[in-house]
Amino acid sequence: MQTIQVHDKKFIPYITAEEINSEVRSIADRLSTDYAESKPLFIAILNGSFIFAADVFRALRIPAEICFIKLASYKGTKSTGEVITSIGLDADVFGRDVIIIEDIIDTGKTLNQFLPQLEHQQPKSMKICALLHKKECTVFPIHIDYLGFTIPDRFVVGYGLDYDGYGRNLNGIYQLEEQ
Ligand code: IMP
Ligand code: MG
Repeated sequence: MQTIQVHDKKFIPYITAEEINSEVRSIADRLSTDYAESKPLFIAILNGSFIFAADVFRALRIPAEICFIKLASYKGTKSTGEVITSIGLDADVFGRDVIIIEDIIDTGKTLNQFLPQLEHQQPKSMKICALLHKKECTVFPIHIDYLGFTIPDRFVVGYGLDYDGYGRNLNGIYQLEEQ
């Protein structure tokens, strides 16, 4: 992995594709065991989670469904504090075992806003699966049931995560270079 440039910023290698792949497999194994009998419904939060969600979903060994919603709170490298829903939930979650898939949990604002909406529709259970967690940034504490990596408060791109739309196609995860 090499230092890369996205727009005006430099990013340094942080988590390799191999390390991600091994975490994805272990998360999918745990999910396959925990939900062996229940035909769960995965809800992936677009845009950032599309690659992680696809890889976890493909690695499952159980019958499961997946659907997508679109929420966003970031502009550039900063959280705006406001969560906008642009594609809503079209699946029936009533009585289902639901697993939400996020790329990264930062302040917790996105899920803090979405979870009560989902709870209102009375799923049987509701768990969170996230690739990354910026623990130091917590404003709204969220319990993460299936977590890949805890990372420091430094902006990252790659494996679905973007800086103003770019960088999502990188296979590994890269961290903003310190100024
Ligand atoms: P939260 O609502 O503050 O928890 O933010 C979660 C959302 O912010 C994630 O789903 C990402 O889309 C975005 N985000 C937070 N940190 C980063 C980052 O370091 N790189 C890219 N996107 C990020
Ligand atoms: Mg996101």
